[in-house]
Amino acid sequence: MNLESILFTQGFGSRRQCRALIGDGRVSVAGVVCTDANTDFSFDGHDFHFSVDGVDWPYREHAYLLLNKPAGYECSRDPQHHPSVFSLLPPQFAERGVQCVGRLDQDTTGLLLLSDDGKFVHMFTSPKRKVPKVYVATTRHPVNDAQLDALRGGVLLHSEPKPIAVVDAQTRGECMLALTVMEGKYHQVKRMIAAAGNRCEALHRERVGGLALPAALAPGAWQWLDEADLGSLRSG
Ligand code: URA
Repeated sequence: MNLESILFTQGFGSRRQCRALIGDGRVSVAGVVCTDANTDFSFDGHDFHFSVDGVDWPYREHAYLLLNKPAGYECSRDPQHHPSVFSLLPPQFAERGVQCVGRLDQDTTGLLLLSDDGKFVHMFTSPKRKVPKVYVATTRHPVNDAQLDALRGGVLLHSEPKPIAVVDAQTRGECMLALTVMEGKYHQVKRMIAAAGNRCEALHRERVGGLALPAALAPGAWQWLDEADLGSLRSG
């Protein structure tokens, strides 16, 4: 693939903009500035890296990302009331069509997946595909056994045809609850907690499938997912 196409597929702007970046001497491969946009690089099965303005980028056919979402950001490219989670990411990702894999509410924190692989996005957002998701909720009132029983047995949410049950519910303190849910319905966890007779004051997603939010990833920080992470996601 030539250098122009590499930059173009990775979200560095239009073909013209990519050619200009290269022509201006801002792109290096293996530490050597390359000013010819037509230079071919073959990297079948190899890890290929390039740098733009000194910042290293791996070539990825598809982007699979994990963001530790802070509170106060909307999972939309066209946010209404708060900044977009895309403002926390390098602009190349939106440019190459990365989207959120499901949505977290603006005030929910934690593990958010993003990708430009349509099949992957569909696989993890389709209602048919059940993926366990673990949320930790801080509740307004102490959690009691009746509430745990209601969540485990199933609660009826407005405009849902039948009750929805959590797969698992454990207390993590007087006003803290870890819930595992399979679905991804609108405000699902908050609504379930309300239906069980309590109120969700804060919500954090700590796991999707077998993939946990890395403890070292600060709020607002993102990382690439590697093959092992993608395997963990599916193995949940
Ligand atoms: N359930 C909610 O209520 N909100 C979220 O952000 C995610 C799940």
